[in-house]
Amino acid sequence: MKVEGKDMRPIWFDEVKKTVQVIDQRFLPHEFIIKDLNSVEDVIFAIKEMVVRGAPLIGATGALGVYVSLVQENNRGADNDYLEAECHRLKDARPTAMNLFWGVDRVRDAVLKEIDYNGRVRAGLSEALEVVEEEAVNCREIGRHGLSIIQDMSRKKGGEAVNILTHCNAGWLACVEYGTATAPIYTAFDRNIDVHVWVDETRPLNQGARLTAWELGKHGINHTVITDNAGGHLMQHGMVDLVMVGTDRTTRAGDVANKIGTYLKALAARDNNIPFYVALPSSTFDWSITDGIKDIPIEDRDPDEIRHVQGLCHGKVQSVLVPPETSPAANPAFDVTPARLVTGFITEKGICNANEADIMALFPEKRMA
Ligand code: MRU
Repeated sequence: MKVEGKDMRPIWFDEVKKTVQVIDQRFLPHEFIIKDLNSVEDVIFAIKEMVVRGAPLIGATGALGVYVSLVQENNRGADNDYLEAECHRLKDARPTAMNLFWGVDRVRDAVLKEIDYNGRVRAGLSEALEVVEEEAVNCREIGRHGLSIIQDMSRKKGGEAVNILTHCNAGWLACVEYGTATAPIYTAFDRNIDVHVWVDETRPLNQGARLTAWELGKHGINHTVITDNAGGHLMQHGMVDLVMVGTDRTTRAGDVANKIGTYLKALAARDNNIPFYVALPSSTFDWSITDGIKDIPIEDRDPDEIRHVQGLCHGKVQSVLVPPETSPAANPAFDVTPARLVTGFITEKGICNANEADIMALFPEKRMA
């Protein structure tokens, strides 16, 4: 996607410097900083501290992290125990997004097929870059399939603006290109369909207000930032036609883990008869589990993320304390929306209902033996 007229992705491999580079998302939209990831320590920091975030991007970063583990200073990539240990460290960086485990394991498996060090480095880089490219293609396909949902709604409304509510940032910053939830929106906009997006601010880290609003604005898409609590009210007053969100992990039976607050949007959407769609690449499905509430690990983040709010003040990004200095806070970062509240999944293979049989019909190769 374009930033100041230049094609950008949130992660790339600089062929000249031979370095993995990322956009530092912590300070967007007010400061645009690019960071080099030169060691596994750098990669872990980037994932943990949310320099990079969003399920597909964490997967791509983990994949490139395996390559980084091979070329960082100690050159121990021919040692299998070392490689396994580095992969475990990478996978421990964040617990909820499935893509991280998928991306790391995929590159590790490709590397382990090679014996000598140089072969491993070549295999690591080429597999990681394939992961990056594949996720870009998957998101484009999600956009292509999801377009029909927005098109149908636009027809139903006689061409009037389709109002779509989204939560967190499931845009190109969270993926490699296009985004998951935003891919159908970008595709519809590019085909001259009138769309307007309600952007949940998404406390505590405001990925909606900071990142989704920035992305949509750069693309020229009409949008309005709202508080996380406004969605239900807007739905009751006919101001939301569709809800589209991404996911960090979805079970084979269709339970969806996504940014905290997603479940409440799904409940409000069901109460108001509004379609609630979840967009995801197949790398976000956890094929080994069915019960999301019981089996998806929910990340508990630093309570200080709740206690503080960050924004631009006198031209500088600053953080301020909101509650009394001594009040404790709790920060579960994701919640699980049960499959029964999901209207459908938009995947790179097409759209399906949120149940195991229909998901498996789209991905027959994932059927359990
Ligand atoms: O904590 P984050 O910012 O990594 O959470 C991201 C989300 O919850 C996104 O909605 C999710 O990854 C959707 S897929 C792009």
